[in-house]
Amino acid sequence: MSGRPVVVVTRRLPEAVERELAGDFDVRLNQDDRPLGPEGLMEALRSADAVLCTVTDRLTPEVLAAEPRRARLLANFGVGFNHIDTAAAKARGLAVSNTPDVLTDATADIAMTLLLMVARRTGEGERHVRAKAWTGWRPTHMLGTQVSGKTLGLVGMGRIARAVAQRAHHGFGMRVIFHDPYPPSPELARSLGAEPRDRLEDVLGEADFVSLHCPATPETRHLMDRERLALMRPEAFLINTARGDVVDEAALVEALQGRRLAGAGLDVFEREPQVSETLVGMENVVLLPHLGSATTETRVAMGMRAVENLRLFFAGQPLRDRVV
Ligand code: DGY
Repeated sequence: MSGRPVVVVTRRLPEAVERELAGDFDVRLNQDDRPLGPEGLMEALRSADAVLCTVTDRLTPEVLAAEPRRARLLANFGVGFNHIDTAAAKARGLAVSNTPDVLTDATADIAMTLLLMVARRTGEGERHVRAKAWTGWRPTHMLGTQVSGKTLGLVGMGRIARAVAQRAHHGFGMRVIFHDPYPPSPELARSLGAEPRDRLEDVLGEADFVSLHCPATPETRHLMDRERLALMRPEAFLINTARGDVVDEAALVEALQGRRLAGAGLDVFEREPQVSETLVGMENVVLLPHLGSATTETRVAMGMRAVENLRLFFAGQPLRDRVV
């Protein structure tokens, strides 16, 4: 017994982060990198002082009911925490922290990557070359959609959306409109070249590209349902780097099949890691395996932020990123 707090880490983390954790805590790493599952998570809650968890751990009310519970903190590795039932955590006096800020740029880059890929048909082009189907340059081959001068509609205008607006407007010459119930100041919006719209529906009807940047909450589940998808223009593209269940995936498939949407760029899915076979078969859809924050720099920074939260918690100090 070292007397140091015991921390269960549910997935492999970058080496530098695991080393840092081992310096301060009695750390139990997940060498196999397999999700712990409900039983493993309950065991972690019973035997550790804190659990450093990720988006792949479903911390449901049933899992959080593990007794006798030793854990007092869930230090989430990631900004989104919709996989944690925060009401149940709160009711049980379990603190929850996350890792905001450090993944803003990486995630905004992936939103722009998806936007450019789907507009310029680059996934399709890559598959074409690799399949040795390319017969040579010709003026009418694989024509995509120009991005500069087009209108990007942002759903939500938090940190990541603002970083996307910055790139899209100042980097790619796009017009940017947005809807957020808690909008940034008019000065900040102006500096990003972004114009507010009072209603989400106005953004959907006006944009050539709609990019989702709202948190996953019970209120935003299936925000993009059949009716709202129908408000988008048939030439428009949907980009999702937020969370899969913000979109009704079955309704999106229908809209794409019916050519009521030009295409979609998706980094997140309703039933990860499962992806609809129909989407997989569509050329006008770009599919990425939840890569939003996946750069070495960002994942190390996320880990260090989680370590900071753990240190503060066990030093009895206020958490930097407390969500519950
Ligand atoms: C986040 O931080 O929310 C990423 O999507 C990984 O969970």
